[in-house]
Amino acid sequence: MTRTLITSALPYINGIKHLGNLVGSQLPSDVYARYCRAMGHEVMYICATDEHGTPAELAAAKAGQDVADFCAEMHQTQADLAAGFRLSFDHFGRSSSPQNHELTQYFAGKLADNGLLEEVSEKQVYSNADGRYLPDRYIEGECPNCGSADARGDQCENCTKQLSPTDLINPRSAISGSTDLEVRETKHLYLRQSKLSETLDKWISSKTDWPILTTSIAKKWLHDGDGLQDRGITRDLDWGVSVKRGTEDWPGMEGKVFYVWFDAPIAYIAATAEWAAAQGKPAADWERWWRTDKGADDVNYVQFMGKDNVPFHTLSFPATIMGADDNWKLVDFIKSFNYLNYDGGQFSTSKGRGVFMNQALDILPSDYWRWWLLTNVPESSDSEFTWESFQNGVNKDLADVLGNFVSRITKFCRSKFGEEVPSGGEYGEAEAEVITQLTERLKSYEDNMAKMEVRKSASDLRAIWAIGNEYLQAAAPWTLFKTDPDAAAAIVRFALNLIPIYAALSEPFIPDAAKTMATAMNTPSKWPTDIAGALETLPVGHAFTVPENMFAKITDDARDEMQAKFAGA
Ligand code: 2FM
Ligand code: ZN
Repeated sequence: MTRTLITSALPYINGIKHLGNLVGSQLPSDVYARYCRAMGHEVMYICATDEHGTPAELAAAKAGQDVADFCAEMHQTQADLAAGFRLSFDHFGRSSSPQNHELTQYFAGKLADNGLLEEVSEKQVYSNADGRYLPDRYIEGECPNCGSADARGDQCENCTKQLSPTDLINPRSAISGSTDLEVRETKHLYLRQSKLSETLDKWISSKTDWPILTTSIAKKWLHDGDGLQDRGITRDLDWGVSVKRGTEDWPGMEGKVFYVWFDAPIAYIAATAEWAAAQGKPAADWERWWRTDKGADDVNYVQFMGKDNVPFHTLSFPATIMGADDNWKLVDFIKSFNYLNYDGGQFSTSKGRGVFMNQALDILPSDYWRWWLLTNVPESSDSEFTWESFQNGVNKDLADVLGNFVSRITKFCRSKFGEEVPSGGEYGEAEAEVITQLTERLKSYEDNMAKMEVRKSASDLRAIWAIGNEYLQAAAPWTLFKTDPDAAAAIVRFALNLIPIYAALSEPFIPDAAKTMATAMNTPSKWPTDIAGALETLPVGHAFTVPENMFAKITDDARDEMQAKFAGA
């Protein structure tokens, strides 16, 4: 049996995610996971909250909460929203789990043993008032280049010049505003990625089937300027995985934690270990997904993420895996995405601009969002959410094509033949033609799904719905019924049998509607292997029910109201 391991980039814990975040990894990975399950693969689909780092600490402080409590609550919120969007994770874990602490320290120990960690002395800004070291971007001051008053310690947004904190004139803490800052000398661990640069380069070069977006970003980091740089993997923070060498303390590293980007990808593994623990399964059950010496050799591992995450997944995390040199599974395919913009600008958390996951579910069912987002996923370039496009996608594809087809045929059958599949008549050329068309489209749909071509898959699915709708329109059983009820019955029987096919094929994109269709047709969802055979699913006399209106259209008024509401302050 094919075994497919799928991970979706871990959403930061610091707040509720917007639709741009959702479409950049979780939604497409869910479509793929559902498809692989339908194909009979053994699937392990993993996600988790990314809980460490300064943004988590600051978000907790802003909420007036202890950081551990904040993370626990926000994890639950994000888990509930994931369920609301029907994201079918096998486990939604936490990067703060004990499993991740242990694995992160283990990896650091292995890397140290293999000569891939270096202790480096650094000067860093300490804020006496805040009682902590400040990351570069939490130091503000006057730009030495353009004089802007609000330059950050890493960059001046006004003139774009890259800065170090010590360049700033009159520096202050962005957290408290305090100017009581001093420079202290402190030690950090660096991952010697440069030593692995050649190996990584060869490995990336061998991935000729990866999306250009993925490989071009990796190549840029490998070859631009001075090539791949070593990376600091420790920080002076309270919240995080404390720095240890395996299970041993690390002299000189007291009070420090690993950098969030070091422990976050390791949490893919840890969350699979959490899954096993939650199911009461032995460690061997998660190790067979991740350890090539324990059964992961035949696993196909696919990662989904936004383009900003690509450097960490093509270089840093593989450097950790390769550097540990202890039979860990490397990724086989990285599917990356561009950005989704919002109505002529960008989504903005701080300005409340755009639609956030909780708000989306408050206004409309998840299938509406899933459909629009997936048909407009920023696959080959950035894409843009507009209310008009959203209204169009929902009204035209879902309501006018799929919804109309299902509603029309089930209601017509009920009114003329009752709520069971009618007998009489025979299939002819029109039906044969539909079978040919559907067979072709299904092949294209499966090919595109297997390649994770989300937009192309969505347009195949749309075409599959349209084939049925057009058939029904042309066959017009309502007209024929008056002169030849037997011929009309055959059309109805044929069209009703399309619904279970639509249920199965639609499930990866719109799982709720798929379930409604399968339930109404009173038959379990089964992926069609041959269309002609699948059209025999509902025999004469099979009872069904008419599904409630599957999709409500979005009116112009409702559209305008939502647009105004989410325009941001
Ligand atoms: O960009 C982000 O939202 C990160 N939290 C993604 C982390 S992915 C993984 F490596 F954990
Ligand atoms: Zn400047």
